[in-house]
Amino acid sequence: MPQTQTDYVIELDPRPGVAQGEERFVVRHDDGTEQQIRVKDYELIYPIPGLYEEVVQRRLECSSPQIIVERLADAVAAADQDPADVRVLDVGAGNGVIGEGLRDAGFRVPVGSDALVEARDAAERDRPGLYAEYVIDDGTPDAFGAIEGAVRRHELNALTCASALGPGHIPIERLVAVWGLLPAGSLIALTASTALVADWGGPQIALNAVSGDDAPTEVVHHEQFRHRLLVGGGSVDYDVIVGRKPIG
Ligand SMILES: C[S@@+](CC[C@H](N)C(=O)[O-])C[C@H]1O[C@@H](n2cnc3c(N)ncnc32)[C@H](O)[C@@H]1O
Repeated sequence: MPQTQTDYVIELDPRPGVAQGEERFVVRHDDGTEQQIRVKDYELIYPIPGLYEEVVQRRLECSSPQIIVERLADAVAAADQDPADVRVLDVGAGNGVIGEGLRDAGFRVPVGSDALVEARDAAERDRPGLYAEYVIDDGTPDAFGAIEGAVRRHELNALTCASALGPGHIPIERLVAVWGLLPAGSLIALTASTALVADWGGPQIALNAVSGDDAPTEVVHHEQFRHRLLVGGGSVDYDVIVGRKPIG
């Protein structure tokens, strides 16, 4: 994303003990107006250029984008695959932070999907041309059909989903259905809270759950990492899981 001149200042509310996503900050605009926003209010964040990057990436030091891209790249290198042959569907793509990292690492990222029109509009505003298609996934069969068409048209063979799974985010059933659209041999890379992955029963069981009726997806890498700082102090751990759908 090009560096933008901002016409606002941000003040984080450092009250301790506030749950992830519920943390608040104030945006004071140059025109004298101000907005109270929670970290999970993506529909308010994405319309303001640079706000997501400043709050989540820079101040809260979110490392999921770097980790998911690096671990997917490691899996591709270990399999002697060329990243240019890996065509990614980025699910819960937001404003394109992950897509940009993937593209910079040599992957092709023809398709993004997200529930929010504001996410698509921000991706097109800040990273024009990054995605050939950006599907609004409102959970309906029509949206699923649009994803299915995009998977076929762009011969997608990888799926990424960073920090977009679980309660209040993408339901596991939707991820199972979308992963089911990708062919044998495809790669999947997820980041999700360590607590959620533990609830699922660990990385292999998480990927079995994501496989649905398909043959179980094999874990090729799993690691815990510090996802980001919490506004009120402390940090939250996530797991990165990379898997591959078996061939044949
Ligand atoms: C924490 S943001 C992560 C965005 C991006 N993956 C990144 O790492 O920069 C979570 C994203 O998931 C999207 N999301 C939440 N629920 C969703 C759903 N049911 N279907 C699709 N996207 C959803 C949100 O709109 C938001 O863009």
